[in-house]
Amino acid sequence: MIWSCPVCKAPLTVPLNAEAKNLVCANGHSFDRAKQGYFNLLLANKKNSQNPGDDASMLNHRREFLEAGHYQPLVDALQKTIAGLVGPDTENVNILDVGCGEGFYLASLQQGLALPSLHCAGIDIAKAAAKLAARKYPSVDWAVASSFQLPVLDESVDVLLRVFAPGDVQEIVRVLKPQGHFVRVVPGPEHLFEFKEVLYRRAVRHELPATPEGFLPVDSIEVKYPISLESNQALRPLLNMTPFLWRGKREGREMLLQAERLDVTANFVIQVYSVDPLAIVEPVMETVVETKVDPETEVKVESEVATEVEPEAEAVTITETETETEIIEPIVKPAKKAFTFD
Ligand SMILES: C[S@@+](CC[C@H](N)C(=O)[O-])C[C@H]1O[C@@H](n2cnc3c(N)ncnc32)[C@H](O)[C@@H]1O
Repeated sequence: MIWSCPVCKAPLTVPLNAEAKNLVCANGHSFDRAKQGYFNLLLANKKNSQNPGDDASMLNHRREFLEAGHYQPLVDALQKTIAGLVGPDTENVNILDVGCGEGFYLASLQQGLALPSLHCAGIDIAKAAAKLAARKYPSVDWAVASSFQLPVLDESVDVLLRVFAPGDVQEIVRVLKPQGHFVRVVPGPEHLFEFKEVLYRRAVRHELPATPEGFLPVDSIEVKYPISLESNQALRPLLNMTPFLWRGKREGREMLLQAERLDVTANFVIQVYSVDPLAIVEPVMETVVETKVDPETEVKVESEVATEVEPEAEAVTITETETETEIIEPIVKPAKKAFTFD
């Protein structure tokens, strides 16, 4: 198990004497398994809204679109890429998907890779995402967490996957094994360009992001193909799973909503990186969550603004007296008073 306690960073384990209903750390912090099967490892004082991340409607539309197979060539390319990184006989492979959404990619990979001792875990800041993922794919470990402060043990992950999602690269360096890989999927220059032409006065092609600090480039695989959405019903999920709809011109929006057919280009780039052994990793900072749309990727991002960590202030939340734990309720309670999530 790769989870670490979001309060004190100690490893989280399933207690031997329980019926696997909760995770506990050596310092007595306990996290109940929600009835759908995920863990909520996002501390209440680390979010600035009741329901951060994508909402249930966007997530359901994304699921409908992905399950219709429109991005299957991306799934196939990812599977081939990751299979090449871990090798068929590697034991105890941990794959972590950050910003995993409703779980489609990770679950597809788990099934397709079929490695002997593969362990897959996914996190998303949206509780709705963890619920959907856990309900449908119980063989993967799912948690609500921020990609900017991963509740994940140092050097525990072989492949960290991030598909159209935000995150903090220093956290990735921290959690990857020394020989591990960061696999990032970003939109290619032409991705959904036809969409943008209808919606924006001046449609701009995506620029590929540079190699993140602390990493060395290993590979870059472009996937590009046309998608034909041949009815209004078929194109609605695509419109509704991205923030495109509420950002564009009104006339364009209406045209798309009425359209009976849409031909668009799918264009992705899978970027593979290894950890640069010479890189110096800065200490993790305390953060506050902000919601905005990334103009490059068109993705709604719950990003975090870094501020210096004040160790004493953080220590207050760890104490276990009734009054002090209230600071971080409802997420963390002493082991004997664990919460149940819906
Ligand atoms: C465009 S969706 C991509 C979802 C999934 N990777 C896919 O491609 O189907 C971006 C996801 O990132 C999540 N997200 C946004 N900010 C986040 C953060 N700070 N930490 C973790 N997840 C975040 C959203 O809730 C959403 O599910």
